[in-house]
Amino acid sequence: MDKIKTTKHNKQSYWIITYGCQMNKSDSERIASFLQSQNFKKAKNKKTADLIIINACSVRQSAVDRVYGQINQIKKNEKKQKIYLTGCLTEKDKQALQPKVDLIFNIKELSTICGGEKIDTYFKIPPLPNNSVSVFIPISTGCDNFCSYCVVPYTRGREYHRPAEEILKEVEMFIKRGFKEIILLGQNVNSYHYKNIDFTDLLQLIENIPGNFWITFLTNHPKDLSEKLIDYVAESKKVCPYFHLPVQSGDNKILKLMNRHYTVKKYIKKVKKLRKKIKDVCISTDIIVGIPTETTSQFKNTAKLMKKLKFDMAYIAQYSPRPQTALSKVKDDIPKKEKQKREQELIKILEKTALENNKKYLGKTKVALITKYEKGYLFGHLKNQKQIKISSKKDLTGEMVKVKITQANPYSLKGELIYDKK
Ligand code: SAH
Ligand code: SF4
Ligand code: F3S
Repeated sequence: MDKIKTTKHNKQSYWIITYGCQMNKSDSERIASFLQSQNFKKAKNKKTADLIIINACSVRQSAVDRVYGQINQIKKNEKKQKIYLTGCLTEKDKQALQPKVDLIFNIKELSTICGGEKIDTYFKIPPLPNNSVSVFIPISTGCDNFCSYCVVPYTRGREYHRPAEEILKEVEMFIKRGFKEIILLGQNVNSYHYKNIDFTDLLQLIENIPGNFWITFLTNHPKDLSEKLIDYVAESKKVCPYFHLPVQSGDNKILKLMNRHYTVKKYIKKVKKLRKKIKDVCISTDIIVGIPTETTSQFKNTAKLMKKLKFDMAYIAQYSPRPQTALSKVKDDIPKKEKQKREQELIKILEKTALENNKKYLGKTKVALITKYEKGYLFGHLKNQKQIKISSKKDLTGEMVKVKITQANPYSLKGELIYDKK
């Protein structure tokens, strides 16, 4: 196999291209850290890199198409560059892409590329975050749920839960380094368990680490979101009042077809409980439109649910058939045009409800964590993850500032800094 061997004086440079969700972004931070430990340097840009690593996503065909496009484009460069491919890939795509790249590796084998040695888990490689404020900490990987449309259980395999002590050590290291926000990741954080520690216990253990920081997490599966967790977040000082709770559809028959294991009624009950118990809670969701056999009236049920629940954010996707999944055997019978129409209809509802929700913040004073300073503006978010932009002469990246909300848009707020009189 065509592997790059490294030496102490390795002058080779790398560039990482990441597609997909936060889990892939997090993995890319470990790839960067590993390559630097092998004496690679980050290239100035994609064109000048000796080694390009593509971290792929397969959740929809459009994501896969981008990977193919990217590889073809790199191959046209004058400079002969090595291409390594990793991430979420189906067997079919792996076979098709094998001849086009130098190496395809499973992220779990990260330590063995570029002449490295095998270690028991790639999570032992510390991540190299691309900022100094928020850090992704995976608590588990893989998925055992087998939603009938989803490729993740096939690309990432069965659930693996990291030992709690390993997670705590990693969190502690970043808090010591001054990070202000811990973003816990898992396909279904609610199913986390290690020995007798469940997800809520894990949050408690992280919260006990001294320091002024926020803890947030995603993704929640409605079927596993427990009362214990809701009660804990309601009382917690550090855990953010934010729940990404993908509903996928507002129709019971479709939910059954999706193998989601909850009903619309049960989902509504959980959202109501979250809103009743947790102050300022912000709820976002994922929705798929145009799943095979979805009738107009079934789609209308989703639209109705969105109007009723008034989400703060929703990631709406057109159904894309995925190889290996249960639904791949069913005809993708909703025309593209119809999927687009349904998506647009839901976006309109979202814009309205998200704006209504945000308007309630006007005139209020909140704390914001600043993650970026650009062209005279601070960018950050409130504790419930609502995005905010604040005009400022000073760069306050990494600080928690008091801000008065002055403007509400559907997906973001604007505010002014409040200085405490001393
Ligand atoms: N583990 C998370 C997210 C997994 S993928 C969860 O269970 O919520 C992220 C989102 O992509 C899903 O929530 C779903 O809305 C969407 N998605 C997954 N498979 C899809 C497909 N085949 N077509 C369209 N959207 C899909
Ligand atoms: Fe996919 Fe369902 Fe697992 Fe989420 S819970 S990753 S949608 S199979
Ligand atoms: Fe994430 Fe895409 Fe894999 S959504 S888990 S990178 S298939």
